[in-house]
Amino acid sequence: MESGKLAIIGGGKLGSALAEGMIRAGLIAEYRIHITRRNAELLKPLADKGLITGSDNIAAVKDASIVLLAVKPWQVEEVLGSLVDSLAPSAVIISLAAGVSLKKLQEASGDRFTVFRAIPNTAVAVCESVTAVCSVNASEGDIKLVGSLFSGLGIVEFIPEDKINAATVLASCGTAFALRYIRAAVEAGVEIGLSPETAVNMVAQTVKGAASLLLDGDAHPEAEIDKVTTPGGVTIAGLNAMEHAGFSSSIILGINAAFRKTENK
Ligand SMILES: NC(=O)c1ccc[n+]([C@@H]2O[C@H](COP(=O)([O-])OP(=O)(O)OC[C@H]3O[C@@H](n4cnc5c(N)ncnc54)[C@H](OP(=O)(O)O)[C@@H]3O)[C@@H](O)[C@H]2O)c1
Repeated sequence: MESGKLAIIGGGKLGSALAEGMIRAGLIAEYRIHITRRNAELLKPLADKGLITGSDNIAAVKDASIVLLAVKPWQVEEVLGSLVDSLAPSAVIISLAAGVSLKKLQEASGDRFTVFRAIPNTAVAVCESVTAVCSVNASEGDIKLVGSLFSGLGIVEFIPEDKINAATVLASCGTAFALRYIRAAVEAGVEIGLSPETAVNMVAQTVKGAASLLLDGDAHPEAEIDKVTTPGGVTIAGLNAMEHAGFSSSIILGINAAFRKTENK
């Protein structure tokens, strides 16, 4: 049953991934979804899948109970400011923009709306995002609404706003970090004789399986590593060679470098 209208303003990489995830999650039966970008013809694939598409932001937010802002961070305040007078009084605004504070969002919306920040990652397209969410003064009902929206698209972590940059690095940049591990493992797999296609499938499913051991149970990574590490065996030889080359410390260094960048340090 349709329970309202949802607007996505900014149908770029993240906005479109979000829309794809919503279609996959069946949210299209629950919400009329209207997605915009200035170059609206690029949204045709989403129009073909049943979304309302266009470049008119005012039309998109009219009567919408949820408005997601997926434009670039430097555009968010201006775009939000241009929409405030057209929003339904009870509309919940969710900004996906990295680095734009709740305070700025509240100011840009004239302090008249409930405002959330949400940081999904691009796996939202396949409903496998982890989305960090924060807000101020949101009602329990609004928190439940936003929580259920993003839990349909993966998992949700409600966190304080001062942790959102850390979450962005681990979960959004983290997609690229994890894929870089996968790419490296595939290159090695080809060198030891597997076809690229087989290597991609093996590495990607192995990473997915390893992640599932943690997410579907309550295992600790090191306990799971112990299970596959026979004393004097093959796995420990590989792990120790990786550590000699700086595997763990390069990941910690990279995450810290990305975090410093978010904090402009
Ligand atoms: N990519 C990620 O993994 C990720 C993760 C978390 C958060 N974010 C955040 O998501 C936001 C979008 O990032 P992105 O990577 O998706 O960037 P992007 O691909 O450049 O998407 C932004 C889109 O906004 C559209 N746009 C610009 N001005 C507009 C306007 N006035 N009205 C409607 N649409 C407008 C642009 O299309 P037109 O030029 O055709 O208008 C563009 O497609 C950013 O704020 C970023 O911080 C991204």
